[in-house]
Amino acid sequence: MPDDARLPTHASLIGHPTPRIDGRAKVTGEALYAFDEPVANPVHAFLVTSTIARGRITGFRLDEARSTPGVLDILTFQNVGDQVQELPPPGGQGGKTTQTLQSDRIWHAGQIVAVVVAETPEAAREAADKVGVDYAEEKPSASFDSPGAETIVLADLKGSGGPPHEDPKVGDAEGALAGAAVKVEARYSTPPQHHNPMELFTTTCEWRAGKLTVYEGTQFAHGMKVSLAKQIKVDPADVRSVSRFIGGAFGSRGGITHRTAWIAVAARRLNRPVRLEPTRQQGFTIVTFRAETRHHVRLGASRDGRLQALIHEGWEATSRPSTYNVSGTATTSRLYACPNVSTKVSVTKLDRQTPGFMRAPPETPYLFPLESAMDELAYALGMDPVELRRINDTQIEPIKGLPYTSRHLVECFEAASKAFDWARRDPRPGSMRDGDWLVGLGCASAAYPANIGAASTRLILSPGPRARIQMAAEDIGTGAYTAIALTAADRLGLPIELVSVEGGDSSLPAAGLAAGSNHAASTCNVVAKACEMARQRLAQAAGMAKDGPLAGQNPAELRLVDGALVAPGGRREPLDKALARLGGPLEIYAENVPEGVAADGVQKTYQGQMASARGSDMKDQARYAFGAQFVEVGVHSLTGEVRVRRATGAFAAGQIINPTTARSQLMGGMIWGISAALLEATEIDERAARYYNNDLAEYLVPVNADIPEIEVILLPEEDHKINELAIKGIGELGTTGMNAAVANAVFHATGVRVRDLPVRIEKLLDAPLLRA
Ligand code: MOS
Repeated sequence: MPDDARLPTHASLIGHPTPRIDGRAKVTGEALYAFDEPVANPVHAFLVTSTIARGRITGFRLDEARSTPGVLDILTFQNVGDQVQELPPPGGQGGKTTQTLQSDRIWHAGQIVAVVVAETPEAAREAADKVGVDYAEEKPSASFDSPGAETIVLADLKGSGGPPHEDPKVGDAEGALAGAAVKVEARYSTPPQHHNPMELFTTTCEWRAGKLTVYEGTQFAHGMKVSLAKQIKVDPADVRSVSRFIGGAFGSRGGITHRTAWIAVAARRLNRPVRLEPTRQQGFTIVTFRAETRHHVRLGASRDGRLQALIHEGWEATSRPSTYNVSGTATTSRLYACPNVSTKVSVTKLDRQTPGFMRAPPETPYLFPLESAMDELAYALGMDPVELRRINDTQIEPIKGLPYTSRHLVECFEAASKAFDWARRDPRPGSMRDGDWLVGLGCASAAYPANIGAASTRLILSPGPRARIQMAAEDIGTGAYTAIALTAADRLGLPIELVSVEGGDSSLPAAGLAAGSNHAASTCNVVAKACEMARQRLAQAAGMAKDGPLAGQNPAELRLVDGALVAPGGRREPLDKALARLGGPLEIYAENVPEGVAADGVQKTYQGQMASARGSDMKDQARYAFGAQFVEVGVHSLTGEVRVRRATGAFAAGQIINPTTARSQLMGGMIWGISAALLEATEIDERAARYYNNDLAEYLVPVNADIPEIEVILLPEEDHKINELAIKGIGELGTTGMNAAVANAVFHATGVRVRDLPVRIEKLLDAPLLRA
C-alpha cells in the first residue's frame, strides 16, 4: 500500500459538514478549561462584594476574618491600591466600574471590595463572610425612571476621548412622516439580561520568575495580556494568557473585568498560584451584562406599503462613569429602503456596573422594536408581513447610499416561509386554534454586520505529513478550531485528521477578539493565506528542481491535492517528498490586515489595541449577513401560557466553512432569542439598585422541553467582495430577529401586542381572546 493511501480524495473540505475536531476531548473531559489547568501548590481566593450600590468605603473590620484558620491574606484598596492603575475606557476593556482596586468608591452593588486568600476554598469563603466593611452610603439610581438617573444624548458628547457618536440620518423624516398615508408609532423596551455561561467566571494566576500566567476564559488572548499588564503596571511581555477551551462566552469574556487584576496582585503578594472560583450569584455583578433599553419608533408608509419615514430613538442604561452603548440604529436605519430616516440614541447613567457585549449587542435589542413595528405596519396596511419586507427590500443601504456587497434577505424570506408553510396562516388575530390553544405565526428579519479583524498565524508543515496551525485564536464554543482546521486541510490538500490547531494562548501569533461574529473571517482568511504561501514555496522548489516528477512545471499551476503536489496533467509528487526537497519541516508566518482595518503589523498592533472593522462602518460598501425567522406559538386560551411550537430560520451569510457547527450556532442563537423573548430578565430592587433573581433558579432560561424542533436553512451565497474566503460570520445573526418573531406570533395568536419584553403570562391576561 503506498504511503499516502489513507488520504481520501476530496474536492473541497470548506463547506463540508464536519464534526468538531475537539468533540472527543470535550465529551471525555480531556479538554482543559481554564480552571482545569493544573498549578502547583495553589491557594484559594474568595470575593467580598459590596452590599451598597453607591457611596464610599469608610473602613474595614478584618480582625475576625484574619484569625480564621488557614487565612493568608486579605486584599483591599488600602493595601494594594498603589499596585494598579486605571485603564482608559472604553470598549471591550471596560470603564471605571471594572477597575475597582484603587479607590474607596462604590459604583454598583456587588462590586469587589476585598479578596480573601486562604489555604482552602472553604477557609477563604468563611473568612470572607467575616469581613466587615463600613460604608458611607448614598441613595442609588437603579433604573431609567429613578431619581438621580442622568440621561445624555450621545451626539451631544464631545471630546470625551472616544470616537464622536453619529446618529444615522437621511432626508426629512419628520416631514415625510407627517405626510405619510399610513403611520405606526409605538414605544418598546427590553430588560437587563445576564450571561450565565456554564463555566463560572474563574481566574487562576501564577507567577514564575517575574512572569505571570493567567488562566481565565477569554475571547481575546492578547487583549487580556495587554490590558492586565497595563493594569498591574508590568511589561506585557511578562504576561501570558492561556484559555484553550471556554464554557460559553457570548461577550461576557470579551473585555477584561475587575477580578483578574485582584487575583494577579494576590498571587504576586503571596508568591503562590491563586485560584478564584466566584459563585453563580457573583457572576451577576463582577462581569458585564446586557443593559435594558427603551425605544420610540415611528414608521410612515404609502398605501402600497413603501416606507416613507423611519424614526428610531433609543435609550440605553449604563453605569455612572461610563457612556458604554451599543447604538443599534446603525443597523435599523439601513435595513430597508426608506428615503427619510432619523435616529437618536441616549444613555442613562445609573448606579450599576458598566454593561458590555452580549450576543449581537446592538442588533438584538434594536431589531426587536423595528421588526415589531414592521409587523404593526403590516396590520395597519392590511398587508402580509413577508410582502412588506419584500417591497421595502433594497440593494443599496439608504443612509450613505452604499451598495451591499451581497444581500439576499428576500431569498431568505422565500426559503423560510416555504419551509414553514406560512401560506396556511390566516392573518386575523385569534383565527387559528388547536384545541384550547390559540395558534400564532410571526416572522421578522435578522441582520448582522459582516466584521473582520487583523490576524496572524504560524503554519508548520512537517513530514508525515502533518500540519500544525498556531494562532492566539479563541474557540468560545463555536467550533472555531474546527473551522480553522478545515480551512487548512482544504488548502493543503490534507484530511482534517492530519491538521492540528493550537489556540487560546497569547504566546502564539496574535489574532483578535473572538466576538462580533468576526473570528471565522479573521482567522480562516489568514490561515488560507499561510497555506498558499506554503504551496508557493513547495511548488517553486519542485518546479525548479533538476529531477523529480514535477521538474520544469510552472509552479503557479501546481496544486496541493490529496497529500501531493499535482500538476495540471496529473503528474504528482507526494507532499513528504516535496517537503524533503526543502530540507525538512516548513514553517510559515502569515498575517492578514483586511481593507479598512488600521493595523501597524499584527503583532505590534495587538500590543496596544483592537484592529477590526465593523461591516456597518464600511466606507464604500455595506457588509451584512441577513436572515428571515419564523415562529409558531401556542397561547393557552385559559391560562395564557405561551409555548413556541416550531421555528424556522433561513440565513444568507456568505461562505459557510462548516455547516455542522454553523447550524448549531444559528440554532443556538434562535434558542437564545426564544429565551430572551419569553423568559429572560434580571429584576432590580429599585431601592437598593440590586439584582434579586441572581441565580439559575430565579433567572429564567429555557430547558429542553421549552424548545421545539428548530429548522435552520443555510442559503448558498457567494460574496467575493467581502473577503478572500467570502465569509460573513454567523455567531450572532441567529438571535437578532427572534425577539420580534416571537412577539409578532403572540400578537397573531392573541391580538395583544407585547412591546415590553419578555412576553409573560401577566401581560396577556387581559386579552379578550383568552376568555372567549
Ligand atoms: Mo459577542 S456579544 O460579540 O462576544
